Amino acid sequence: MEILLSAGEIQKRVAEIAGDIRRDVPGRVHLVAVLKGAFVFLADLIRQMPGEVTVDFIALSSYGSRMTGSGDVRMLKDLDMPLRGRDVVVVEDVIDSGTTLAALLEALRGRDPRTLRTVCLLNKPARRRIAVPIEYVGFTIGDRFVVGYGLDCAERYRHLPYLAALETGDCRV
Ligand code: IMP
Ligand code: MG
Repeated sequence: MEILLSAGEIQKRVAEIAGDIRRDVPGRVHLVAVLKGAFVFLADLIRQMPGEVTVDFIALSSYGSRMTGSGDVRMLKDLDMPLRGRDVVVVEDVIDSGTTLAALLEALRGRDPRTLRTVCLLNKPARRRIAVPIEYVGFTIGDRFVVGYGLDCAERYRHLPYLAALETGDCRV
């Protein structure tokens, strides 16, 4: 395993992103975190964000990774709260092919939020198959499979405080 980003580097960047979001959404911000991968990022992000913040969770399962543009994304757990009139920021761990985020944004737009933005911890533009808007990016990385800080390989490594690249492609769907 190769450490890509240390806990300290991640914390510094998360604080900057929290500030960026706050500048754009000075009032109440409603964060929609995508389970499970985004839970550590969300936990750090909200603690760097002053003012009024609400949080909700959605769980998705993507079968689309191999099928280009299939957009086959299943909802495992829906949000608890309506989005109507809210300034919503989707909190994602990694944007890879873009399939998951594209399907999610389409579904959420239909719920009438006042504004809808996306923040992701990691962006992998080289792997993109569907263009998706991302307003805030933690780190842009190459075509690597990354674990730690919430990200898993077959449910392992989520607890690591840093981000590491796995050499094996075993976890790639
Ligand atoms: P996409 O639909 O291809 O953009 O897939 C995004 C999802 O795949 C992310 O939310 C992650 O759950 C997962 N994923 C993609 N790349 C990685 C990685 O490097 N490590 C762990 N999970 C990943
Ligand atoms: Mg995810």
